[in-house]
This record gives sequence, structure tokens and C-alpha cells, in this order.
Amino acid sequence: MSIYITGDTHGDFTRFRPALFSPQTHLTKEDYVIICGDFGGMWDNGPEDEYWLNWLEEKSFTTLFLDGNHENFDLLSSYPAEEWQGGLVQRLRPSVLHLMRGQIFNLQGLSFFVMGGASSHDITGGILEPDDPHCKEKHRQLLLQGIPHRINHRTWWHEELPCEEEYHTAWTNLERCGWTVDCILSHCCPTSIQEDLCAGRFPPDSLTDFLEEVSHRCRFKSWYFGHYHQDRTVKKGFHLLYEEILLLKP
Ligand SMILES: [Fe+2]
Repeated sequence: MSIYITGDTHGDFTRFRPALFSPQTHLTKEDYVIICGDFGGMWDNGPEDEYWLNWLEEKSFTTLFLDGNHENFDLLSSYPAEEWQGGLVQRLRPSVLHLMRGQIFNLQGLSFFVMGGASSHDITGGILEPDDPHCKEKHRQLLLQGIPHRINHRTWWHEELPCEEEYHTAWTNLERCGWTVDCILSHCCPTSIQEDLCAGRFPPDSLTDFLEEVSHRCRFKSWYFGHYHQDRTVKKGFHLLYEEILLLKP
């Protein structure tokens, strides 16, 4: 049994085609491929979502994902939570599972603390409200000027950052396991790691600060995260993933 891990997919799962991800011929549903946020496979409930979720379901392996900032949280919240391997998941398909925030899972003998979410940085043009009578015009103008912006409940959701209850759940679960896990999975990363990576381009927020505290308190072997769209090890134990599909556990 093995575990693979990769970064943001944004609704494009072509990296899992057999020609690009050949190990799948030997995998079964007992093997896991984890996506570190910005899964994007549940975006507008349209035919494309349906096609790709069914396509993933037909794969030989089980797909696990944590949420990033670019997820449709309205749609995601319509799925019930259920217990799976020690933590809570939402099942989009029998073998396509959302690993919920603050949970600890036991996968193939390894423990994983999961904390999805992140701040969007592609919103310099702001968040438009769909019920604003000028929304369409503002959207058109911003597009013309090439200024990144998002529309509330259509391409951006307030829930991109965890709420108090999710932080509390995370804290309680980490206390319960004595602040010791094998791996930590997140979408963004601790504030100091983000500083090393981005040199001030992205400001800290409640989640990066929370993860910073976790990084000091918790004993862990490896931390995997996405969000910053590069494949590199930032410093010992902190692995940023994007398109690479890494073998985490052979
Ligand atoms: Fe992303």
C-alpha cells in the first residue's frame, strides 16, 4: 500500500493520466493520492465537475484532498461529514474524499494532521457582490484592465479561512494526540516559512499564524503544503508541492 501526494489541481486532473502518472497501474483503492488544497473538482456543480469526479472515481486509487482557498465552500458544505480513518471526511464519490480541517487521520500506520484553507492573493481588484447592480460593469472593467478580482459565492468564499470552531477542533485534536504526528498537511504554510518563500509578498494571516504556532508546538516528521505554485523543499521537513506527484510512503 502506498501514499502519493501532490499540490494544487484547480479542477485539472490531467496529471493523473496514465502517461503522466504510471504507478497507477499497480495501485488499488487501498492506495491514496493526496491533493494539498485548491482541489477545484467541486466548483459549479456543472457537467465538468461531474465528468472529472467520475473520472477520479474510476481511477485505480483513492483520491483524498484538503481544501484550499479556491474551492466552492457553498457546495462543499452540502455534503455530510462522516468518520473515516480516525477523522472527519466529506465523500464526494465513494473514493473521492475531502479531509476536513483540524482532523487527524491514521493512514497506513502514519498519522496526518490536516488543516486546509488559505487567504486568496489574486484579489487586488477586490471581491464583487453579485447583488450589486454595478457588479457586471465593475467585473467588465476589471477584466479589461487585467486586475485580478473575484465574485462572492461564485469565485470566492469567506470560508477560505477557518472559523473559530475549526481552530478549536484542530487544537483539541492536537492536544489529544500529545502534539505528535507523522505528517502535517495544509494548503498555506506557517508564517515564517511563507516569509522565506515569498519575502513579504503575501502578508501573514490568522491561519499562517496558527500554523506557525503548530510548527513550534508539534513534533512531526514532514509537512506538505501547496498554495504557492512551486515544487521545492523550503527547509528541512517543509515540502511545497505543485505539479509534482511525490511518493510519500512506498
Ligand atoms: Fe492554487
